[in-house]
Amino acid sequence: MWGGRFAEGPSAIMREINASIPFDKALWRQDIAASKAHVAMLGAQGIVTPEDARTIADGLEQVAAEYERDGVPENWDLEDIHMTTESRLAELIGPVAGRLHTARSRNDQVATDFRLWVREAIDQADAGLKALQQALIARADEHSASIMPGFTHLQTAQPVTLGHHLMAYYEMMRRDRSRFADARVRMNESPLGSAALAGTGFPIDREATAKALGFNNPTANSLDAVSDRDFALDYLMAASQCALHLSRLAEEFIIWASQPFGFVKLPDALSTGSSIMPQKKNPDAAELVRGHAGRVIGCTTALMVTMKGLPLAYSKDMQDDKPPVFEAAGLLALSIAAMTGMVADSAFDTARMRQAAELGYATATDLADWLVREADIPFREAHHITGAAVKRAEADGVPLDQLSLDVLQGIDPRIDERVFKALSVDASVASRASYGGTAPDQVKAQVARAKARLAEEE
Ligand code: ARG
Repeated sequence: MWGGRFAEGPSAIMREINASIPFDKALWRQDIAASKAHVAMLGAQGIVTPEDARTIADGLEQVAAEYERDGVPENWDLEDIHMTTESRLAELIGPVAGRLHTARSRNDQVATDFRLWVREAIDQADAGLKALQQALIARADEHSASIMPGFTHLQTAQPVTLGHHLMAYYEMMRRDRSRFADARVRMNESPLGSAALAGTGFPIDREATAKALGFNNPTANSLDAVSDRDFALDYLMAASQCALHLSRLAEEFIIWASQPFGFVKLPDALSTGSSIMPQKKNPDAAELVRGHAGRVIGCTTALMVTMKGLPLAYSKDMQDDKPPVFEAAGLLALSIAAMTGMVADSAFDTARMRQAAELGYATATDLADWLVREADIPFREAHHITGAAVKRAEADGVPLDQLSLDVLQGIDPRIDERVFKALSVDASVASRASYGGTAPDQVKAQVARAKARLAEEE
């Protein structure tokens, strides 16, 4: 493509290090779409004749049909998807193919193609996250009153409902979707027509190509447009945070599925066995979701470091922008799908969860609160009295609500029989009815709000 200035061809090493076709062939649909928008505009503006524009557009359709049928050929000499397509176009329609590249450069071309690709990746992530939210809502609805221990420091803290716990992840997914949506709004501007870096002397119509490709408007500064990869970073950062949330959810399932917990049986379809230990059912999918988060975050770091030292405008370093984005998008899509299946199809052992809440002195705060409310004892003193009760229950090996009234009154005479109402795990969760709290009614309300929000999106 630049043979005019060069006496010698590239070395084998140059060809190999330069070639992006092995990965950027993933952009072929976007590349064809952007070229068709460009050539239609060139025709409409009289920059190429209407006949040439037609010939080129038909040729591009033909190339696309070949890619669809046979895949994109990988010839390192043709470097990237843009030159591969142009070269095939020339084989098919002859020298008129050379008019396609009028008033553009690969710099605005790749920036445009890549934005289109990332925009689709955002839409896919959003659809996947919505399905995960629906699974979380359905299970939360089912388990709005199922009691489990709530943890701080992974120590039993207070009883909560499983529905409440699951809806916490719904909220994380809601923020993730909003981050992707923000990124989409910000990125949806067309770099096409920025040309190599400075714009072009041809009378192009950037509004027209922007509109044809579904962008809101053309980018405002050509130097920025060809060297900006914020859109890819915005996507990766949203993907990282999302992967981090999925990893936390995966970790919950890994812990809950362990034998000492026994809170959940994972779906067979998302587990594996051991080749030597027949009793084992391993949470591999969940572990890989947890592992993939590390890789997604690594992809984000890779692109940030690639970009941090680059002066305006395009530098070839930027060709390295695509592999981390493609990798992260694949890992994220798989992780979302795996967690959706896990949430939808796991079997929760609610009896075991309730038992764990009862055995962990999870209602100790309720006893302290009762002493404050009913006996007008200052909270600090109530905390101390409750500590003594827990110590006694622990020594006797019984839950708090199985200490006798005599024993409790021995610890503090102001306690009376009404206290037993406050000591059950059911009473405890029912009492936490503040907005957003764990009481079954509050969980039902959270579920109803979430359903309404999703319905509004339709
Ligand atoms: N394959 C290149 C990339 O992905 C396309 C842009 C090349 N531009 C250039 N001036 N060499 O970044």
